[in-house]
Amino acid sequence: MAHISPSHRCIAPGSLQLAPVHVGITATAAADGRPRVKHSPRDLADADLASPDPCTSNLQTSRELLTGKSSMENGKQAAAQQVITPWLVESGGADLEYHKICQEFGASLISQDLVRRVERLTKAKAYRFLRRGIFFAHRDLEALLDHYEASQPFYLYTGRGPSSEALHLGHLVPFHFTAWMQRTFKVPLVIQLTDDEKFLWRGLSLPESERLAFENAKDIIACGFDPDLTFIFSDYDYIGGDFYWNITQIQRLVTFNSVRSIFGLAGDDSIGKIAFPAIQAAPSFPSSFPHIFHDAASSSKNVKCLIPCAIDQDPYFRMTRDGDSGKMSASDQTSAVFVTDTPEEIKGKVYKHAFSGGKDTLEQQLSEGADLSTDVPFKWLSFFLEDDEELADIGRRYATGDRAMLTGHVKQRLVEVLTDLVQQHQKARAAVTDADVHHFMAVRPMTHPI
Ligand code: TRP
Repeated sequence: MAHISPSHRCIAPGSLQLAPVHVGITATAAADGRPRVKHSPRDLADADLASPDPCTSNLQTSRELLTGKSSMENGKQAAAQQVITPWLVESGGADLEYHKICQEFGASLISQDLVRRVERLTKAKAYRFLRRGIFFAHRDLEALLDHYEASQPFYLYTGRGPSSEALHLGHLVPFHFTAWMQRTFKVPLVIQLTDDEKFLWRGLSLPESERLAFENAKDIIACGFDPDLTFIFSDYDYIGGDFYWNITQIQRLVTFNSVRSIFGLAGDDSIGKIAFPAIQAAPSFPSSFPHIFHDAASSSKNVKCLIPCAIDQDPYFRMTRDGDSGKMSASDQTSAVFVTDTPEEIKGKVYKHAFSGGKDTLEQQLSEGADLSTDVPFKWLSFFLEDDEELADIGRRYATGDRAMLTGHVKQRLVEVLTDLVQQHQKARAAVTDADVHHFMAVRPMTHPI
C-alpha cells in the first residue's frame, strides 16, 4: 500500500513524515574499492570507512511512503506533529523540520541550487521527486557531482527487502527515481534483494524468501531499468567471493556496541540480525562486483557509489560511512495501495481511507479552504502527479476554498492518477518474462562507460 500519510515508523519518530528523500554520500572505500581495515577495528570511526574521501553517496526518501509503514488515516496524528510535505519545502514552511532531521542524521538538505546543478550537469529537467523535495536530504552529493563533472565514474545502489508478493506504490518511489537517475546519468546500477533480511526478520521460510525475491524482481524490472546496466542480485544467490570478502571486512570493523546503538538491536536479538548490517553495507563498495568493476580501466579509477533510499535506511549507510548512531523504531504494518490493486480497490482506498485536510462543512471549506499540510490525497498527488502547474493549481484552489476544488475533486484526480500509474505498472510487469529476470540477475559484465 502506498501510505501517503505520515508515519510513526521513521527513524526519528515524528519528524520525518511523508517527506522527502535524502541523497547522500555514504560509504567510503580504499583506492581498491574495498572497506579498509585499519589497526583499530574496535571503533568504526577510527577506520578508513570514515575517511574524508567518501566513495559512496546516498539519496533518501521519506519512510512512510516508501515502506508503507503508516496508514492513510494517519493524517490526524500528523496534524499534531506538523507534517512535512515536499511542497512545504518549496514554500520554505518546513525548513526548520527538515533542518532538524538533517541535523539529527548528520545529512544535508538538498537545496534548489543543488537541484539546478543536477539539471545543468545532466541537461535534463530534474525528476519530480527532486524538483519537489521528495528526495530532500543527501550526504556529499556535491562531492559526487564534482567527481562526475571531472568525468570520474560512479554507480547507483539501491535495494528491496522482499517481504511481500506485491509492492505498494511507496516502494515504487525510490525505484522510479533510481531509474530516472540511471537514464539521466547513464551509469551502472546494482539492486540488492535482501531475501536473507526478510528470512531473519519476518520468519519466512527459505524457499518463500527466495521466491518473493524473484517475484519482486519483476516489479522492479517493470520500473524501466536498463538491462545492459543493471545487476539485480539476491543475497542468497550472490553472497560469496569478493562480496562476502567485503561483508566480513565490514563485520570485523563494526562492533556489537555500534550495531546496538545504531539499529536498536539488543542481546536477545539473533546473531543473524546483528551481522546483517554489513550485508547491506557491502554493495556500497565497487569491489563487491568484480564482474562489473574489475576491468583494468575501472579499477584504476576511483568509482563512487550513490544510494537512493528511504530515510529509514540511513542508519546502514551512516554506519558504513562513520558509525554515527541513530535509532530505528518499530514498524506498524497497515493497509496500502498495491501495484496489484484494481481500479475499484484504489478508488475504495482513496475515498474511504485517505485522510482529508478539507473542512467539515461546505461553508467552512469555502470560507477557510483546506489544510494541505494534513491532506493525504494532496500529498499523494505531489508524489505522483507529474504536471507541476496542475499540482500547484489544485493546491492553490483547494487551500483557498474554491468551490470547484473540494475534497471530492482532489480525491477523484488522485484516483485517476493512481489508477493510471498502477495500470501502467501492471502492463509493464506482465511483459516481464522469467527470462528477463534471469537476464537482469545474471552475473555478467556490463556495457558501461567506466
Ligand atoms: N533493507 C531494505 C528494505 O528492507 C532493502 C535494501 C537493501 C536497500 N539494500 C538497500 C534499500 C540499499 C535502499 C538502499 O527494503
